[in-house]
Amino acid sequence: MSLTSDDARDLWMEQPPGLTVVAEIDGKIVGTAKMGPNRPGHGDHIGTASFMVDATARGAGVGRRLGAYVIDWHRRRGFEGIQFNAVVASNAAAVHLWTSLGFEIVGTVPNAFRSPRFGRVGLHVMFLAL
Ligand SMILES: CC(C)(COP(=O)(O)OP(=O)(O)OC[C@H]1O[C@@H](n2cnc3c(N)ncnc32)[C@H](O)[C@@H]1OP(=O)(O)O)[C@@H](O)C(=O)NCCC(=O)NCCS
Repeated sequence: MSLTSDDARDLWMEQPPGLTVVAEIDGKIVGTAKMGPNRPGHGDHIGTASFMVDATARGAGVGRRLGAYVIDWHRRRGFEGIQFNAVVASNAAAVHLWTSLGFEIVGTVPNAFRSPRFGRVGLHVMFLAL
């Protein structure tokens, strides 16, 4: 799948009440997260977020810092929980990281993602009550 920069910006940049943030090391952007209500209207007491860390900066704690920021952001705004809708089951770093920050796997949609490396794998729904 290829995206233009404009398409990517539209997909990634949240509008209020959501927020998009970046992580920098020595003035270089090495990661980003976006966050906001998981659902509009009656579902907006539960938040959600997405993350990307530059491949060259992974394993250095950037994802953990972004995850901690996201949890704190939701807490300060009175959200009652955070739901990750689609954590690829074979993404061991993500599953480890979110679990270590307190998220639980509440269910797995079987074979919902076609991993280029592993073929069909599950998608976890992960949840942290706040
Ligand atoms: C998932 C992602 C955000 C993590 O970012 P990161 O900066 O590498 O994360 P951190 O360095 O803070 O932490 C990674 C943790 O995963 C662990 N880890 C890394 N590879 C692992 C593996 N194969 N199996 C288990 N744990 C692994 C690290 O040891 C570290 O845990 P620790 O802090 O307990 O030692 C990053 O890999 C990424 O952008 N991936 C592509 C996009 C993506 O998957 N987004 C999230 C979708 S839910």
